[in-house]
Amino acid sequence: MDFVERMLDASALEAGKMVFDRRPLSLLPLIKSKVKFFASRSSVHYFQVRVPASLPLAFGDENKTGVIINNLLENAIKYSPEGGNITIEVDRSRQDGYLEVSISDEGIGIPAEYREEVFERFFRLNAGAGWKTDGQGLGLYITKALVEGQNGRIWVADRPGKGACFTFTIPQLTEEVDSEVEREYGSK
Ligand SMILES: Nc1ncnc2c1ncn2[C@@H]1O[C@H](COP(=O)(O)OP(=O)(O)O)[C@@H](O)[C@H]1O
Ligand SMILES: [Mg+2]
Repeated sequence: MDFVERMLDASALEAGKMVFDRRPLSLLPLIKSKVKFFASRSSVHYFQVRVPASLPLAFGDENKTGVIINNLLENAIKYSPEGGNITIEVDRSRQDGYLEVSISDEGIGIPAEYREEVFERFFRLNAGAGWKTDGQGLGLYITKALVEGQNGRIWVADRPGKGACFTFTIPQLTEEVDSEVEREYGSK
């Protein structure tokens, strides 16, 4: 995503004009395709995807969920050293009816006092010399709006050891949603 695209996204969400096309969504193929894309660009990070054998479908907008994953992977690559592991885990959330996606890296991490601020518009930490510090501080702001736009939550915690671990939730496809979708799209 370039600067203009990000600005357009940011202003659309501020104007409340973001439209979500939520449908039953299989997270694993989406995550795999994003990881494949970044793995081909970044030969210096190792990607691991961990998903339980049976996982319910999510209910979300495929493109927007793709942007969420993209932004978090982009940051994990940008703020962690070459040779580092980047792990994407999907599981049922402790919150009933939700799935949880977490993306963790072995990078510089985020000091506890900035865990809320990193999601603010234009907020950037001074990552220090030697780190790629180009950026506009819009990625996480947009990401948070996209997550919340489909009723999820996003937060950052320490990755055990070192690095950052970003987690977002996304509703799970439930029976009720399922029948609603069938009505809406007239499938079956
Ligand atoms: N995985 C991460 N590890 C450490 N710091 C991070 C990570 N992701 C984001 N940050 C910090 O949060 C700030 C905001 O991120 P973001 O909104 O994506 O903007 P940008 O990447 O353009 O700086 C970044 O400038 C960086 O300081
Ligand atoms: Mg970013």
